[in-house]
Amino acid sequence: MTQKDYLESNKDRFLSELFDLLRIPSVSADSKFKEDVLKTAEFVRNKLVEAGADEVEICPTAGYPIVYGQKIIDPSLPTVLVYGHYDVQPATPYELWDTPPFEPTLRDGKIYARGAADDKGQFYMHLKAFEVMMKTNTLACNVKFMIEGEEEVGSSNLGPFCISNKEKLKADVVLISDTSMIANDCPSIDVGLRGLSYVEVEVTGPNRDLHSGVYGGAVANPINILAQMIAKMHDDNNHITIPGFYDDVITVSDQDRNELAKIPFDLEEYKKDLGIQDVWGEKAYSTIERTGIRPTLDVNGIWGGYTGEGSKTVLPSKAFAKISMRLVPNQSSHKVTELFSNYFKSLAPKGVEVIVKPHHGGEPVLTPTDSIPFKAAAKAMEETFGKKPIPTRGGGSIPIVALFEKELGLKSVLMGFGLDSDALHSPNEHYGVFNYYKGIETIPYFFKYFAEYSK
Ligand code: BES
Ligand code: MN
Ligand code: MN
Repeated sequence: MTQKDYLESNKDRFLSELFDLLRIPSVSADSKFKEDVLKTAEFVRNKLVEAGADEVEICPTAGYPIVYGQKIIDPSLPTVLVYGHYDVQPATPYELWDTPPFEPTLRDGKIYARGAADDKGQFYMHLKAFEVMMKTNTLACNVKFMIEGEEEVGSSNLGPFCISNKEKLKADVVLISDTSMIANDCPSIDVGLRGLSYVEVEVTGPNRDLHSGVYGGAVANPINILAQMIAKMHDDNNHITIPGFYDDVITVSDQDRNELAKIPFDLEEYKKDLGIQDVWGEKAYSTIERTGIRPTLDVNGIWGGYTGEGSKTVLPSKAFAKISMRLVPNQSSHKVTELFSNYFKSLAPKGVEVIVKPHHGGEPVLTPTDSIPFKAAAKAMEETFGKKPIPTRGGGSIPIVALFEKELGLKSVLMGFGLDSDALHSPNEHYGVFNYYKGIETIPYFFKYFAEYSK
């Protein structure tokens, strides 16, 4: 049977298995879902076994386990290490979903569910592509699977796992589907990911909440102060004001910027989709550049004081915010966190105390386009999309990719099949049925060309 015939005759089951996977709420950030996250690891293990993998195991870590499996058909053939994550972002607020986040629903050719695109729908394509190759006797490379359960909370246990399992994870390349393409009729491959520095700040004023009439105007209000401090982090050109922040940023050449400018992008469509009158960002850069090659600083959450029903007149004792900085190649997450911390504290007036608590971070990455793995991925996509994919820069972060390079000496290929409009991390996350099947169809070609080009 050909790969095409096998996929065709198993399409419905491939989709219903993904639905089963999406029904398990594997939210890694919320300990309320602990049992479900563990159940998801078991689900992945069972499906790897069914698809024909050997030495399948659930590897415990200090956090959620890593599911491993492999198929070594011939030690002289190249080995592909497939990475993905079975955990998902929280789905709150549930009331903003048109259908419940953990009851996958098909609408207009799209699968609506938390994790549909990020990353369950995408990593599961690899299990099904593997099944296709196994059942049609066409597996062209050795393959190892490493599917983790903590990507959405910073992958803090995957680094140590890689370091202590270097032999087991020996491979020639890491293959990842956890990014987006430009459009279904415009395939692309990310060749860069941004790094991340993430901090939580706490501003404390008086030792207790105060009556905002009795004390207001005479005591620094931590929320007012926090808002001022945050506002000072950008200047009028929307440059970030942290001293030294841009020091290590590599200036992208005019030639590379010209290439970026050729990427099909409809600004009007972009604004319309987001319901905004205008875009915002660093002066003298295009929207594609602002999300691809420039670093950013954003508040992800801010709270304090009274937020309940009606009004309570209170001058709060404390204010909090979670702030992320997206980093570009050559910036260091550690260094940026340090620069932020020093500057942020320096902005505080005497009447408040400031604590900066660093969270997880990650380093930016650039992957080569003149390499065998990239060429194999490009050829595979060209085969199934009928068009050469365009190299692009993804705005998101997959912190572990830099670690694969540092600890395992492995480059990654970011062959993603999602779209930026899939509403990742948002209500109504979805993944195209087209994209799911296209991925399953394309992945075996990667194996084929990777083996061929590696000869
Ligand atoms: N799959 C995303 C990253 C991504 C999405 C890259 C789209 C490129 C395009 C990943 O699951 C993710 O969300 N990463 C987090 C970082 C993590 C440390 C929480 C992110 O980018 O916010
Ligand atoms: Mn992801
Ligand atoms: Mn994510």
